[in-house]
Amino acid sequence: MAKLYVNPKHQLGHINPEIQGHFSEHLGRCIYEGLYVGENSDIPNTNGMRNDVVEALKEMQIPVLRWPGGCFADEYHWMDGIGPKETRKKMINTHWGGVVEDNSFGTHEFMELCRQLGCKTYVNGNVGSGTVQEMSEWVEYMTFEGVSPMADLRAKNGHPESWKVDYFGVGNENWGCGGNMTPEYYGNLYRRYQTYVRNYKKGQEIFKICCGPNVDDYYWTEGVLKTTHDHAEKAHGFMNGLSLHYYTHPDGWEKKGSALDFDEEKYYKTMKKTLYMEELIKNHGAIMDQYDPEKKIGLIVDEWGTWYEVEPGTNPGFLYQQNTMRDALVAGINLNIFNKHCDRVKMANIAQLVNVLQSVILTEGEKMIKTPTYHVFNMYKYHQDGELLESYVETEEIGHKDFKVPNLHESVSLGKDGRIHVTLNNLSVTESYDIDAVFTETDIKGVEGTILTGEMHAHNTFEEPDAVRTEKFDQVEIGGQSLKFTIPACSVLHLALEI
Ligand code: AHR
Repeated sequence: MAKLYVNPKHQLGHINPEIQGHFSEHLGRCIYEGLYVGENSDIPNTNGMRNDVVEALKEMQIPVLRWPGGCFADEYHWMDGIGPKETRKKMINTHWGGVVEDNSFGTHEFMELCRQLGCKTYVNGNVGSGTVQEMSEWVEYMTFEGVSPMADLRAKNGHPESWKVDYFGVGNENWGCGGNMTPEYYGNLYRRYQTYVRNYKKGQEIFKICCGPNVDDYYWTEGVLKTTHDHAEKAHGFMNGLSLHYYTHPDGWEKKGSALDFDEEKYYKTMKKTLYMEELIKNHGAIMDQYDPEKKIGLIVDEWGTWYEVEPGTNPGFLYQQNTMRDALVAGINLNIFNKHCDRVKMANIAQLVNVLQSVILTEGEKMIKTPTYHVFNMYKYHQDGELLESYVETEEIGHKDFKVPNLHESVSLGKDGRIHVTLNNLSVTESYDIDAVFTETDIKGVEGTILTGEMHAHNTFEEPDAVRTEKFDQVEIGGQSLKFTIPACSVLHLALEI
């Protein structure tokens, strides 16, 4: 019997809803087809946005959406995407799939999508191939209200009111596709570009995100912070976040492996690589602590998730992959890790929202399916805005001889609904475990359980959209300040507890 200890008397930090954020790039069928079909489409839409997708994302309580990239962001010139659609520039998306980008989805459409979703906006600016003036004018266009060339242009384009930009990324992957820069060079550019990301409205200050490292590039973190920190200390609002990108590639970058065709060894390797996220957060966090001991700068994990080979027969530049129970576990583990490090991790954005990499939704024409990853987000939404509680689960080592992992993985919060929310993952593909959960000085008065479980390859298809779906989990025995239950193999469990 494994013990799960929860101390509801000890709150460890606030869980920003944005920890469950998402990312949508002009890549493959994410924006076009996945989110935006245009007003004249036969697919039911509101102002061009797919109604079915918007409805599903609202149910999942999507808290924030990042756009327009990714690598695309550092090639994106925002003025190409405003004004009458017929006159917008048509061009080739050279980075992703070599298809025509007609710019029919631009700033106005992104803001309209976020309005429909009721989520915060995270716009990523172009440092790699854009000018300071271009970035500055974009911010003016989106957020300035009053007499100004950009505010006038926005009004002329049909939107007199300004929008709220909650988060702004000053470049993306500037160590790579965003300009192949050195940390010192980028650090200096960051100082310059961010100066013109002006805060025009009191009470609507923009959260500025500096481009951080890829995986374990501690040299980048150190170099960028060394170049900027003297200013960061002095200037309020100079840097609010530093990004981190880490994808789970089970077989390495070169040979990524299949989303559907994998064995137990590959499964456990995927789990092990996913758990590495915690080490990255700790290590980059330790460097940040040297420059920012009060943790004023958030770590923003704005790209994470599994990255496999594309589905056979699909455009290699579209990054379209299926999603199984293995991905559900990857999502559950990452979201638990982010919760546990909510003192430093202020936002995270899974890549990507629809039809690209570890998506929560897949579409085919007018059809739409929710992936196992969707269901995990839908179960975890109760942690949003909660207070992290001290918790610990006794584990044993399982897995493949070269890829050992703990069998169980948890996080617990006190939700804003007043209930305790436990999310527990069973990583074993074969074993179920008996759990004895103990709650310090807290009587449990009722339990509502939801489970997502299945064979590791289980996934949804357009023919069988509900092969993997959540089910009620009611085999929980309440005993005063403890609970007893059995968690099945390969599962993600959510328990909501009345106290
Ligand atoms: O998400 C796909 C790509 O991965 C993004 O465009 C880029 O930032 C990262 O390398």
